[in-house]
Amino acid sequence: MRLSSKVVNQLKPIIFLLLILPSIYWGINFIDYWGINFIGQNLGANPIDRLMDEFGQMSLRLIILTLLVSSLSEINFFRALSNIRRMIGLFAFYYVCLHFLTYIVLDHFFNWQFILKDVIKRPFITFGFISFVLLIPLAVTSINVLVKKLGFKIWKRIHMLIYIVALLASLHYFLLTKADKTEPLIYLFIILLLLFWRLYSRRLKFFFNHH
Ligand code: HEM
Repeated sequence: MRLSSKVVNQLKPIIFLLLILPSIYWGINFIDYWGINFIGQNLGANPIDRLMDEFGQMSLRLIILTLLVSSLSEINFFRALSNIRRMIGLFAFYYVCLHFLTYIVLDHFFNWQFILKDVIKRPFITFGFISFVLLIPLAVTSINVLVKKLGFKIWKRIHMLIYIVALLASLHYFLLTKADKTEPLIYLFIILLLLFWRLYSRRLKFFFNHH
C-alpha cells in the first residue's frame, strides 16, 4: 500500500489555502489595529512586533515541515508527498519575505542606514539575514526549467542548503528570545534530528533491512 499521488494532488488546492490563510488573517488583523474593524482582534501593545513574530514563526515552522516532508518522502509509503514539498518550501519563503518586509517597511520605514547597521551589529539579526539570503537561491531554483538546466544532482546539492538555513533561523530565534528558550530549542532539536536522519538515511535503511 502507498499514499497515492492522485490524492496528494487533489489535496494541493486545500493545502495552498491553508498555507496562505494565516498571512491574510494577520494582515487583516493588522489593518484592524489601525481603525477599520473586520475581525475585532487585538494585536497587543506592539502590533508591528506581533506581526513580525507571527510571520517569522510561520516561516520557521514551514522550513521544518519542508524538511520533514522531504525525509518522509524517502519512505516508499510517503513517496507522493514529494509533490507538495516545493509548495511548502515556497510558502516558507513567502512568509520570510513578509517577515523581512514588516521589518523594513513597518518597523524601520526604509531606513537603509539603520537596517545595515542593525544587520551587522545585532547577531540575531545577522543570522536571520544570512538565513534569508541563503533561501533566495533555493526559491529561484525551484522553477522546473532551472531544475532541468542544473541537473538533478546539482539541484539536490544546492537544496541541502536548507539545513543550514533552518539551523541559522532557529539560532536567530534562540538568540532573540530572552526569557524562556524552550521553543527555539525544540525547533533546533527537530532540525538536528531530521539532519541526522537525512545524513544516515541510507545506512539506517540498510540497518532496518538487515535486522
Ligand atoms: C529564514 C529567515 C528567518 C526566519 C525563519 C525567521 C524567524 C523568526 C522567528 C521564529 C522569530 C521569533 C518569533 C517569536 O518571537 O515568536 C523572529 C523574530 C524576529 N526576526 Fe526573524 N526570521 C528570519 C529572518 C529575519 C530577517 C532577515 C530579519 C531582519 C533583518 C529578521 C528580524 C527579526 C526580528 C527583528 C525579530 C523580533 C521581532 C520582535 O521584536 O519580536 N528575521 N524571526
